[in-house]
Amino acid sequence: MEAEKKTQTTAAQMTDRDLSEQIKKVTKDSHVRAENTELMLSFQRGQVTLAQYKLLLCSLHEIYQALEEEMDRNFTHPAVAPIYFPTELARLESIEKDLEYFYGQDWREKIVVPAATKRYAHRLRQIGKENPEFLLAHAYTRYLGDLSGGQVLGRIAQKSMGLKSSEGLLFFTFPGVSSPNLFKQLYRSRMNSVELTEEERNAVLEEAVRAFEFNIQVFEDLQKMLSVSENQLQNSSTHSKSAKVLQFTGTTIKASPLLRVILGLFVALATVTMGIYVL
Ligand code: HEM
Repeated sequence: MEAEKKTQTTAAQMTDRDLSEQIKKVTKDSHVRAENTELMLSFQRGQVTLAQYKLLLCSLHEIYQALEEEMDRNFTHPAVAPIYFPTELARLESIEKDLEYFYGQDWREKIVVPAATKRYAHRLRQIGKENPEFLLAHAYTRYLGDLSGGQVLGRIAQKSMGLKSSEGLLFFTFPGVSSPNLFKQLYRSRMNSVELTEEERNAVLEEAVRAFEFNIQVFEDLQKMLSVSENQLQNSSTHSKSAKVLQFTGTTIKASPLLRVILGLFVALATVTMGIYVL
């Protein structure tokens, strides 16, 4: 908390050459695009549904698991050490508690990882191994976002889903940060203390734009999954009363009687084939 106070003076001294200013500038348009994704608009309009939030938590789990594992592994790297704040910022544990609240104790068996989320996590693990300085760009994008708009979104989500207190919303709360604004100033001054060559700095800026792009794709992917399952639910209730709805961990697939017979035959055939193979 003392460290947060000290940054008040340094904030006024920032210049255009500061990484924190440059990163904000280069990601400005991407931020607008991220804010205007359907998922983020649902949040802002106070219309976020439980289905949207649960799926978002699944993605955030995969993303923060990769980000925080890579940060932990690289915490002595000169570009990571100054912005390494696990006590104040780490999200993984909070997300896991939220997932348990919504999915129950066996949440690990129930959660889904959509394709765009897998690509984002893969990138995080790759840079953790090959270019740890890029973790700076990703940590900035996620943590400063969570400490900024994320704070408002948490309160909106609580109302939209009619949740009591912080039940299922631990992701949005930072008990180790008394003032998000002061902490963001500290974080920016730490970012500015990282020594990078011109080439490295440009590459970090590019990676920050890419980090926003990954997030946008994650949101669009989630929304697409939800729209598909909603449409299928609607079709199943309006077009075919006998059609059964199969729930595949978050994605809903409608199966007609004919499809179910074909699936049954396929499973039987596979079992017989495996039996012959084993013999
Ligand atoms: C509903 C969606 C969103 C809203 C309403 C929102 C709003 C805001 C606001 C008000 C700020 C504070 C600006 C300041 O303190 O100067 C901010 C900063 C920020 N947001 Fe968002 N945001 C949203 C989504 C996102 C997303 C999806 C990301 C990234 C994945 C993100 C990343 C950031 C970052 C990194 C900052 C810090 C900028 C800086 O000071 O350098 N935001 N946002």
